[in-house]
Amino acid sequence: MKIITLLNEKGGVGKTTISVHLAAGLAIKGHRVLLVDADAQGHATVMLGLSKEPGLYDLLVRNTPFQKTVRPVSPEVYEIPGQPVEGALYVLPSNVETRNISTSINNPLAVRDKFLQLENAIDIVVFDTSPTPSLLHGSIALATDGILIPTLCEILAFDGVRESLLHRDSFINKKQSLGLGSVALLGIIPTRFKQQTLEHSEMLEELQGAFGEIVWDPIHDRIIWSEAARAYRPTFSYAPGTHAARDAWAMVDRAEEAILNVTS
Ligand SMILES: Nc1ncnc2c1ncn2[C@@H]1O[C@H](COP(=O)(O)OP(=O)(O)O)[C@@H](O)[C@H]1O
Ligand SMILES: [Mg+2]
Repeated sequence: MKIITLLNEKGGVGKTTISVHLAAGLAIKGHRVLLVDADAQGHATVMLGLSKEPGLYDLLVRNTPFQKTVRPVSPEVYEIPGQPVEGALYVLPSNVETRNISTSINNPLAVRDKFLQLENAIDIVVFDTSPTPSLLHGSIALATDGILIPTLCEILAFDGVRESLLHRDSFINKKQSLGLGSVALLGIIPTRFKQQTLEHSEMLEELQGAFGEIVWDPIHDRIIWSEAARAYRPTFSYAPGTHAARDAWAMVDRAEEAILNVTS
């Protein structure tokens, strides 16, 4: 089992969108995937047509078992028309109570200990996180094998990437001091990229100059992404064959390769 976390302290950079597309795409490709909505806004939950519920809170604070907190997602919600779903997708939903987890758990290994129970049932866990760092983020980090950092291609976005990388350094130190291995940076994903905008092209070059290969191909800004979100479907399910769906699928392919190569 591999645990992957979407991280960036800025809001609106595509964390939730990418986590939903990644989880659904990996499920289509044959993996048993659990998407954990760790943001009190519950947008990942809602994007897959589910109701907001205290999933992670119930699991960590009320000690409710996975069987009672995890919701299966029907393949009709995310499948690509004409292509069978080979794996399975589950969601641990969220609601406002997620905000109270940090003050209710005192064991930083709470998330790690809990999710290790899924070792035989789930192949890949994807955490969608909130922008504001908290003790919950720290606990998720101690369970995380690899992180993905989505970013906009705007001047101020660089800060968010740098801060996320600094946090990753502190996660690594903490994990290593406990003898729990490292946290790999799997990729920095430029999102909502507007090719015609000079600021975006310059920022993309700057990102590539600073971080090299780890910067993935940009996901372009296209209206289909918000249309699909309004229809509670991933782009490759809502509008297969479009540029947006192709960008999404390229991200899933690259992520799958990176995830399978990360050591847990
Ligand atoms: N490639 C894209 N093109 C256009 N809109 C996008 C794209 N990716 C995400 N969005 C939209 O941007 C908004 C913010 O994305 P979201 O995933 O919620 O960010 P975060 O989770 O980091 O706050 C959403 O309304 C989403 O539909
Ligand atoms: Mg979000």
